[in-house]
Amino acid sequence: MNRSTKSPTFYVDKIPIYGDAILAPMMGFSDEPFRSLCRELGSSISYTEFARAEGLIHNMRRVSEKLIYRESERPVAFQIYSNDVDYMVKAAIKIQELKPDFIDINMGCPTKSVANSGAGVGMMRTPLKVARLFKKLSQVLDVPITAKIRMGWDDCQNYKLISRIVEENGGSLIAIHGRTREGGRERPVNWDVIGEVKQTVNIPVIGNGDVKTVADVAKMRAYTGCDGVMIGRAAMGNPWVFSGKDRAEVTLDQVRLMMVEHLERNLLFYGEQLGINLFRKHVVHYISAYQTTRRFRRELLTRETKVEFLGLLDELEKFPSRFEESAE
Ligand SMILES: Cc1cc2nc3c(=O)[nH]c(=O)nc-3n(C[C@H](O)[C@H](O)[C@H](O)COP(=O)(O)O)c2cc1C
Repeated sequence: MNRSTKSPTFYVDKIPIYGDAILAPMMGFSDEPFRSLCRELGSSISYTEFARAEGLIHNMRRVSEKLIYRESERPVAFQIYSNDVDYMVKAAIKIQELKPDFIDINMGCPTKSVANSGAGVGMMRTPLKVARLFKKLSQVLDVPITAKIRMGWDDCQNYKLISRIVEENGGSLIAIHGRTREGGRERPVNWDVIGEVKQTVNIPVIGNGDVKTVADVAKMRAYTGCDGVMIGRAAMGNPWVFSGKDRAEVTLDQVRLMMVEHLERNLLFYGEQLGINLFRKHVVHYISAYQTTRRFRRELLTRETKVEFLGLLDELEKFPSRFEESAE
């Protein structure tokens, strides 16, 4: 089953979004190869990994590469971050030429080097700056502008204020991850705040955090009233979640075919050596569903070429699945 529906689930300004499950932007994971696979399986928006505005302005290859996408991925959202309004505006004007469907501002990253500088979730501490940024962006851009936020900075949980500011200054969508800056991934996410944001603004709201199964998507929507649901970690090694299939329903053959396709896309996008290196972290997730041996994992993760890798992939059938009731 594909989650996409015939009539739009919601709109980002005038852009129709078909389907309610969306691959979350994830540095090191939501690159063109993985995004395009998830999009084909039903993820309804392709968000790029976050890209630093300064890096985009200075044409840094590694940063600009994050904004390469396939036409078939549309609607595509470029996500950018910085602590500097002028840089963000300059970068947004520049990357608009690459024709994204919308541009998203990251106000959720808790990594110290980002947040402590006033970017990512650090930007939520400066509401006036957020207002200035969104006002300026909505004046100068032709594409919609959106935000991904958290609950706030530790005790200062100003998600409702920030959501209102984004909306009042021309923002077209809020995605909210129901944790504060310090709310480590091990603590449960707070879905109530997603519902509160939905009650606060009239623009669409995407909920995010701890969605692990297909059923969780409907559960989060029913609990919070949100328009769409972002799935991050649960999509790692499990792009099928966007086709309405839980990991336990996926057969070994499907896993192998997906790994081959994913590897091919990585090689095409990054070239042979980097492609295979960057594929390894996905392999860890794909095979986590099997009770493999340490020797097998080590061998699989040190293969240097596609041929060597594919040769070893056949051995996966030796290992039992972790899912008792699996389809295999
Ligand atoms: C490895 C990794 C990288 C991430 N990179 C980004 C990013 O570039 N931009 C962003 O907005 N969020 C980023 N996030 C946060 C996710 O988008 C998401 O908000 C978070 O993982 C919670 O959702 P989940 O419980 O479904 O994983 C990242 C998360 C992870 C695990």
